Amino acid sequence: MPNRDERPTWLRRAPGAQPRISFGADYNPDQWPREVWDEDVALMREANVDVVSVAIFSWARIQPARDRWDLDWLDEVMDLMAANGIGVDLATATASPPPWLTAAHPEVLPVTRDGSVLSQGGRQHWRPTSPVFRRFALELVEVLAERYRSHPALVAWHVSNELGCHNILDFSDDAAAAFRTWLEQRYGTIEQLNEAWGTSFWSQRYGAFAEILPPRLAASFPNPTQQLDFARFSSNALKDHLIAEREILTRITPDVPVTTNFMIMGEMKGMNYADWADAVDFVSNDHYVQPGSGARDELAFSASLTSGVAGHRPWFLMEHSTSAVNWQPINVAKRPGEMARDALAHVARGADAVCYFQWRQSRAGAEKYHSGMVPHAGADSRLFRDVVDLGRMLRQLDEVAGSEPTAAPVGIVFDWESWWASELDSHPTDRLRYRREALEWWRALLDLGIRAEVVPFGGDLSRHRVIVAPILHLVSDRGAARLEDYVREGGHLVLTYFSGIVDERDQIRLGGYPGAFRELLGVRVEEFEPLLDGERLLLDGGLAGDTWSEQVSLTAEDVEVLLSYREAGRNSGPAVTRRAVGAGSASYVSTRLGEEGLRGLLPVLLDAAGLASELPEALRGRVEHAQRADADTVWEFFVNRTDQPVALEGLAGIPILSSGSDDPDVLAARGVAVRRRPRDRAAELDAAD
Ligand code: GLA
Ligand code: GLA
Repeated sequence: MPNRDERPTWLRRAPGAQPRISFGADYNPDQWPREVWDEDVALMREANVDVVSVAIFSWARIQPARDRWDLDWLDEVMDLMAANGIGVDLATATASPPPWLTAAHPEVLPVTRDGSVLSQGGRQHWRPTSPVFRRFALELVEVLAERYRSHPALVAWHVSNELGCHNILDFSDDAAAAFRTWLEQRYGTIEQLNEAWGTSFWSQRYGAFAEILPPRLAASFPNPTQQLDFARFSSNALKDHLIAEREILTRITPDVPVTTNFMIMGEMKGMNYADWADAVDFVSNDHYVQPGSGARDELAFSASLTSGVAGHRPWFLMEHSTSAVNWQPINVAKRPGEMARDALAHVARGADAVCYFQWRQSRAGAEKYHSGMVPHAGADSRLFRDVVDLGRMLRQLDEVAGSEPTAAPVGIVFDWESWWASELDSHPTDRLRYRREALEWWRALLDLGIRAEVVPFGGDLSRHRVIVAPILHLVSDRGAARLEDYVREGGHLVLTYFSGIVDERDQIRLGGYPGAFRELLGVRVEEFEPLLDGERLLLDGGLAGDTWSEQVSLTAEDVEVLLSYREAGRNSGPAVTRRAVGAGSASYVSTRLGEEGLRGLLPVLLDAAGLASELPEALRGRVEHAQRADADTVWEFFVNRTDQPVALEGLAGIPILSSGSDDPDVLAARGVAVRRRPRDRAAELDAAD
């Protein structure tokens, strides 16, 4: 990996240009006649757009046949942008291969678990491990990099697009060959693989790497460690593609940053972005809200995790939507205020660019009902006026650019490996949802007005006074030791059910659950007792658990029982425990309490950790509170979680933005307010002790 210190960390800027929160979109002028481009540019200027991502799906236009190239149109777009002071985040255009390529080389098409070959005609129909695809793609990258290396519009490279959105799992023969090589590197010998995969079970012993296949559709459950390794391999294969493109770009244009748009959102689980982050110069993310009551909390959760993946450095919101998308069963339009709130809520979590898919809503194709910045109705529309307003608001926030989210008192650990491993088949229940559990803790903390962050497991745990690690199912010895150190040094750790159960090989840690954390927690569980749908076990204080339960016994005298089960004849033992260890504590939650139950439990856990809300009572639960800071200044963000105005009385700081409201002391329905105050390092250190 190239040396970080020698790489640019943000968009290339004209000398002397002031830092700003960038604003823009995917721009697809190749879908429109030339005369539309001039109107586009005029409207972009009106909206304060300063960056666009171009040519993401333009391969067939750029290279209409094997030996034909057509870049004149792209030259013209680049020149037009440069002439208007708009930077181009230029795509490498490799996201979707043209029909001539797949017709001549059907061997690049991905293969599903059951052996079906995916056809051309959609997008992203390529095998991550196809040497043929790789050759064509890299040729294209090289052509573009050479052509635009010194173009003044070029501010960043956009590798491919949403790598893995549709092709993360490929079961082709190419994948099989690459999987074997990857396994050989991981395990060295076939004996070690047999040991790791537990192949003494069901006559699965391999005599040679050549016998191994991806976990294709089998007569019964495929080997779980094979599945887990295939998940790791698949994530790595696309990271490898990213690095291959990146190497060409950094060689030809060492001063231009390279990024690709991650998809930290919803159930997109195939790509281990914590592992990918070191392959880009700055992290970019795409986020689309899912309809439903928790939509905006999920947005904040994803944005915070993106910041964690980015090591808390500024990141680039590459795509979200001005209004509806086209790919959900029912595509809900955004209500007044929501467009700005969504954008600003990302900025609150460290985004220094706010971009959309896409600039002008398409007239044809699968995404013609997907909103854009310029809708079908044209510029004379509420939507475009809101876009212009948002562009103006972002300029009011330019001073925030370059600052980073401050450490929140609570960190929620997010770990891709545990996500994968905990949701494998043939488990005690198929009802556990890793991300949902993490999100429930997040929402309960928001409800209580506690500032939190979502952090990849590999990150710096000492930032947080309390760490919640939900369903940390798979943990290495080293990972377990890191958590133990965190506790001994004064951290307060909260672990949930189904944590510490397996090692990196997905093999059980014997002697009683929760294996890796049994000693630390001072508890022991002999059997899991998952619950049927709709079944709830009562606990103290009117709380109830669902989905999962355990008979917990205490193995150390100093374990405090915070809540017990209250189901006579079934379970009346400890449900939630806490133990002081070293300078900190370790707590265990043995059932799923859900957002409501966690709202009941958390005050007890937080109180024991000496932690209270930083917000006045009236704001708790109604606003989401986040902070960004540089050395001297803190910017406090307050995002209205409700559809009613909220009075912001009693808050310190100078208001610098209040979306949708003329009164800086009133947070509009769906509004966002930002206040500035001097940073007080001494007070921060006091609070951390
Ligand atoms: C993704 C893609 C875009 C577009 C949008 C639609 O984010 O990267 O090309 O398909 O989704 O929501
Ligand atoms: C992602 C992509 C969208 C669309 C959906 C389909 O969110 O960004 O373009 O493909 O998945 O689920």
